Amino acid sequence: METISQPETIKLGSNGPAVPPLGIGTWAWGDKLFWNYGKDYDEAQLRDAFNAALAAGVNFFDTAEIYGFGESEKLLGQFIKEVNQPVQIATKYIPLPWRFSGDAVAEALSASLKRLQLPSVPLYQVHMPFDFFMGQETLMNALADEVQQGRIGAIGVSNYSAEQMRKAYDLLAKRGVPLAVNQMQYSLLGRSIEKNGVMDAARELGITILAYSPLSQGLLTGKYTPENYTAPTGARQIDPRFSRSGLEKIAPVVNLLTQIGQKHGRTPAQVALNWLVAQGNVIPIPGAKNASQAKQNAGAIGWRLDAEDVAQLDVATQTLNS
Ligand SMILES: NC(=O)c1ccc[n+]([C@@H]2O[C@H](COP(=O)([O-])OP(=O)(O)OC[C@H]3O[C@@H](n4cnc5c(N)ncnc54)[C@H](OP(=O)(O)O)[C@@H]3O)[C@@H](O)[C@H]2O)c1
Repeated sequence: METISQPETIKLGSNGPAVPPLGIGTWAWGDKLFWNYGKDYDEAQLRDAFNAALAAGVNFFDTAEIYGFGESEKLLGQFIKEVNQPVQIATKYIPLPWRFSGDAVAEALSASLKRLQLPSVPLYQVHMPFDFFMGQETLMNALADEVQQGRIGAIGVSNYSAEQMRKAYDLLAKRGVPLAVNQMQYSLLGRSIEKNGVMDAARELGITILAYSPLSQGLLTGKYTPENYTAPTGARQIDPRFSRSGLEKIAPVVNLLTQIGQKHGRTPAQVALNWLVAQGNVIPIPGAKNASQAKQNAGAIGWRLDAEDVAQLDVATQTLNS
């Protein structure tokens, strides 16, 4: 295992803001619909998670206006106010059918910044590739206006196919603004961006991939096993991947993560996240609901898996992703 002495940062896209090579996802912060916020964990645990991430050198957080219907941004805003440290926030605009003029983007961003209690954010992403009546050209122009006004440092998209990403890139290029990020589902158990052209096009165009659900919503942490079966909380209870047979299918991967982790003194989650970093041009944004998860996930960077570990994990997950 190679350790990295300097705390690295990575530029988002070709000339975007520099952030740590891993961020913390905050979908679960305030979200009752999918994640059971308020029942299984609360604000105090999330504050601890926030502070633990900062203490471990990770000050990059991903949120969205839709998470907890604004609650995730509000909690982050509160936590940021309580500390005296620079924090970098990526948030997201959600295209809704009734948002049909460019002004809707400015209004949504104003509301997000108000909840976050910030004058600007380093990254603003379009949550999904729908544009309804607005159209991508109006949308991208409205975002480019915000870069020029300094309320956002860089523009990202999310869940955009290779073709949609190229179109957004071209529209922004006309305004002299690079597309910095495409936030996509990417993990050892979800490798479709390697095959559908997104990964290649992102490399070609200098667009950074933010990998969401990088732990497969907990499956890659080693916490869920067929032997000591525990049902996950929230909406994951109806996800067949978390059933006993679903867990049996991925047990060889979890065992391999555990084995490689033992060699390096790391947890399965840390190995799974480090594998993503090893792909290059990828920043994982694992979710964390408490201090221990935030600390553990932050410990996924600052060291490198051996090339043979990376290759072994690659082979072990090929068939699960075909
Ligand atoms: N752009 C999009 O469309 C989109 C979609 C989804 C997610 N995202 C972003 O990506 C972030 C991460 O994705 P995600 O939350 O779906 O999935 P994830 O990061 O793969 O998994 C998060 C869950 O795994 C468990 N966990 C995390 N770290 C752990 C650890 N070290 N040990 C044991 N368990 C651990 C926690 O749940 P339990 O403790 O309950 O098991 C946690 O809520 C989100 O917060 C959000 O910011 C974006």
